[in-house]
Amino acid sequence: MKKLKDNVFWVGAADWEVRHFHGNELSTHRGTSYNSYLVKDEKTVLIDTVWEPLTERFLENLKDIVDISQIDYVVVNHAEPDHSGALPTIMEYIPNATVIVSKKGEESVKRHYYKEWNFKVVSTGDKINIGKNDLIFVEAPMLHWPDSMFTYLTGENILFSNDAFGQHFASPGLFNDEVDDCEVYQEALKYYANILTPFSKFVTKKIAELKGFGLPVDMIAPAHGVIWRKDPMQIVSLYDEWATGRSENSVVIIYNSMWGATHKMADFIAKGIAEAGVSYKLFNSATADKNDILAEVFKAKGIILGSSTVNNGYLPSLSPIIDELMGLKFIGKVGAAFGSYGWSGESPKLLEEHLAKAKVKVLQEGLKAKYMPDDKELTACIHFGKAFAEKMLSEA
Ligand code: FEO
Repeated sequence: MKKLKDNVFWVGAADWEVRHFHGNELSTHRGTSYNSYLVKDEKTVLIDTVWEPLTERFLENLKDIVDISQIDYVVVNHAEPDHSGALPTIMEYIPNATVIVSKKGEESVKRHYYKEWNFKVVSTGDKINIGKNDLIFVEAPMLHWPDSMFTYLTGENILFSNDAFGQHFASPGLFNDEVDDCEVYQEALKYYANILTPFSKFVTKKIAELKGFGLPVDMIAPAHGVIWRKDPMQIVSLYDEWATGRSENSVVIIYNSMWGATHKMADFIAKGIAEAGVSYKLFNSATADKNDILAEVFKAKGIILGSSTVNNGYLPSLSPIIDELMGLKFIGKVGAAFGSYGWSGESPKLLEEHLAKAKVKVLQEGLKAKYMPDDKELTACIHFGKAFAEKMLSEA
């Protein structure tokens, strides 16, 4: 039995196995957890459920604590199936329980499960008394779906924030003070970079609104990963910072190379960046994890893309990165492109065009080398990297 407070329990499921999420589009190297919470007051409240395949474990956890038929309210903070997948099973035990949702939540739950449960739609500021304490609801549209909502428990001062402030992180402990700070920070950042970045405007506004309520917060209990108990507002401050799009003066070079020429160019461009006193990281798009690369792009101000030219284009392993750059809409980034070629040489130009479409400011014309770069061309790569880094610094 895992407890947050005397009458507040974790009843979710850890998933140590999962390595990909969202249709294999998001890597989860450290697994994840689907956090569901049970509040026992005069009324019994279940907050979110788990992904459907883990329903059995979830039911076992619940039955350790409560007679499921005694649950009065089920709060669905968000209908994505990793949190609502076990809802139909739970509702078979408690067909008359009240399902609390946001307005958009009612629509999304109905469109997932096609059931006429006893829905109660709540809006920001609505309060439901459950005995000694109240539940207060805060709609959080686009953090990260239109239906997303937070639920706050008075008295215990817990904010159940669903996906916001979460991390894909499985652990034996429930709380951030029981795990490695660096691992949790890395997973929280990767989660923000890969899921929440396009919604940063909404994040900034929602945090200002939450702070305006002046509610005391002892814990922030997201729907994935650890609960923020030690200095719970640290994750709110990080979100506030991340939402600004401010980045460090470093460069991420992402390339792929058919026979090593573009790779060699990447290494010499990196030398030039270092000569300007700027830090860099190199990733081969064919071997590195896409979501890890995007987390590094999120942190860095500069993005340099490189590819050999093949079939009048660039190598296909760059495409998922480019697609994500379009969708994630990182702000304040600067970029450039390069690559070797045999005869046509379109790759740098095409990569530049994609950077520009992703709202990355292209700082200089792309660099090409025919077949293997010679000494003169490698020196040009050093100059290219150095000039890029210097221009980036002057943009700050
Ligand atoms: Fe963790 Fe939006 O689901």
